Amino acid sequence: MTKQEEINQLKKEKDAVILAHYYVEPEVQEIADYVGDSFNLSKYAAGLANQTLVFCGVSFMGESGKLLSPEKTVLMPDADADCPMAHMVRKEEVEQARKRYEDLAVVCYINSTAEIKSWADVCVTSANAVQIVRNLPNKNILFIPDKNLGRFVAEQVPDKNVILVKGFCPVHEQMKAMEIEKLRKEHPEAKVLAHPECNEPLLKQADYIGSTTGIINYTTKSEADEFIIATEIGVRYELEKKNPGKRFYFPATAPVCADMKKITLDKIINVLKTGDNKAGVREDLAAPAKKTLSRMLELA
Ligand code: 13P
Ligand code: SF4
Repeated sequence: MTKQEEINQLKKEKDAVILAHYYVEPEVQEIADYVGDSFNLSKYAAGLANQTLVFCGVSFMGESGKLLSPEKTVLMPDADADCPMAHMVRKEEVEQARKRYEDLAVVCYINSTAEIKSWADVCVTSANAVQIVRNLPNKNILFIPDKNLGRFVAEQVPDKNVILVKGFCPVHEQMKAMEIEKLRKEHPEAKVLAHPECNEPLLKQADYIGSTTGIINYTTKSEADEFIIATEIGVRYELEKKNPGKRFYFPATAPVCADMKKITLDKIINVLKTGDNKAGVREDLAAPAKKTLSRMLELA
């Protein structure tokens, strides 16, 4: 039996469904029932009927799945796959801002632990952050933990006072504007598409800024044949699948999220067989963290 066949058999036995982010290895995306960006994955997690959800991604994704579907078993193929940015804000920073601004809304990127979500008023993903912040009644917004997405939102919604903290995604932050300039010279017809987690000088080069789904949709709708892509290399699989004949160029030092790459077919088989690595959320955090996520689903 191949690994794929074994996974299919186990899925039936356990009434399981496999969800994967675009940044995991192609062979994992290939066997997944649903592949998506963080927003789509949370929507699927809230709406699927299966008893077991296997989340091929990092821990905040499994936690979000568990928050939205607490009655389900949520399995993480690798318990150590974590997003460094998900921890990059301290409670004191939130408390200080709350003291300073009476009408403050704390807006939390979904790439955060359940504990951080529990301090916030609403969650966002890169696909809906601008729209949700724009529609909040509050003038003062504390955006946590990603300074790059926060700055991008602030630029799009200039009537708000967006306060930033210092969190960042190491994978997107390290991509250099210079590398994009070089690629532009080599491929002058190419459109530059970037994820808002990228640094400011890089985003200045972009023709389009959006979530992974936004980037993929842009390429399928665009009449252009060539694209310079500034996000994690895993999206290449979906980009090429959806766009046969179009060409995609990534920075020479390929942007790789080591945590997303921890997910393998063997680890999926293992958790389906053993039920190990169940995602869970501390009882005292579950209600407030869920509230912020549910509010996002209502507003988006
Ligand atoms: P999304 O496009 O899913 O928001 O991807 C960003 C990301 O870094 C997920 O870890
Ligand atoms: Fe976190 Fe960046 Fe990896 Fe996404 S790509 S999981 S934000 S480290």
